[in-house]
Amino acid sequence: SLIEAEEAAYDAEGYTHFMRKEIHEQPAAVERALRGRLDLRFHTAHLGGLNLDPREAREIRRVKILGCGSAYYAGQVGAQLIEELARIPADAEPASEFRYRNPVVEADTLYVAVSQSGETYDTLAAVQELKRKGGRVLGVVNAVGSAIARECDGGVYLHAGPEIAVASTKAYTSTAVVFALLALHLGRIHDLSPADGRRIAEGLRALPAQIEEILKQEDRIAELAREYAAYRSMLFVGRVRGRPVAREGAQKLKEVSYVHAEAYPASELKHGPLALVSPELPAVAVVPDDELLDKNLSTIGEIRARRGRVLTVGHRETGDDAIVVPKNEPELDPILLSIPLQLLAYHAAVALGHDVDKPRNLAKSVTVE
Ligand code: AGP
Repeated sequence: SLIEAEEAAYDAEGYTHFMRKEIHEQPAAVERALRGRLDLRFHTAHLGGLNLDPREAREIRRVKILGCGSAYYAGQVGAQLIEELARIPADAEPASEFRYRNPVVEADTLYVAVSQSGETYDTLAAVQELKRKGGRVLGVVNAVGSAIARECDGGVYLHAGPEIAVASTKAYTSTAVVFALLALHLGRIHDLSPADGRRIAEGLRALPAQIEEILKQEDRIAELAREYAAYRSMLFVGRVRGRPVAREGAQKLKEVSYVHAEAYPASELKHGPLALVSPELPAVAVVPDDELLDKNLSTIGEIRARRGRVLTVGHRETGDDAIVVPKNEPELDPILLSIPLQLLAYHAAVALGHDVDKPRNLAKSVTVE
């Protein structure tokens, strides 16, 4: 089976854990997600399995993305990309919440179900509920021929290859990349200019090499992880594009290192969680060099004024500790900003001696209610 082949390759390559191997596979996984899908003539993306002709695509008035856990967070990155590039209102919601709240299903909404395994019960049930009410659902799925892929009206495969570690890394990143392709495709049918289409297509093509650059910083990130693993709790903050990055970063840390982590929109800090900030509670701040940089710098200032240690992930040296990643197009930066946080979580878990690939209480795919 594919999984057995993957396990044999893992032994051969001498990785200590699947999670680390899968983090390092990301340049190749992104390459596969992009392969044959970028159209450099019309500056758009072609996604063969969408089953959505341009006329139907023009009629979409809203996009609703559904998934669980990291698939949901990747969906939040996707919703922002669609809204920014295609100017179609888009949001993401946990699939389980959606299915239990008797949702209004609209004919001009495009629903997108996200799942690495394609077998997550809550996501499958949300898709079934949508179908029952006549909604149009696309799947963004890794496992070919899985239950969710079969149930959808069309979709896009990630082609990330088998993901074995319980903590999702390469599937998360590939999902965000597939959403960028979908946003580019919808954008160029709506009002995205050829110049902007080209900018995004070129940004996407630059991602694999840029991820490679970030992975080269692993030793330094591992050092930081060993220091931060000594804390009992951490705050993750980000604004707008940085927000799902912060949420996914906190999720990774919790899952594998069992260090408590809470993600907050940076602007919400002063409405409550600032009371927690002290030398015992460090913060990870996601700070891209975008139009919100000044706002983010002032948040960092507020945390440091209360003697909270700050680790920044962004494009410049700020905070007490900084991880600097290469710049892409601002819309695509979230894809790169997540990578150091995966390494941070992984090395924190290793430092604390946890079973990284099989964290306690978790299953790779939750196929029950
Ligand atoms: C990811 O690190 C988690 N283990 C978990 O949140 C996962 O993303 C979620 O259960 C959804 O899984 P799926 O993508 O296979 O549907």
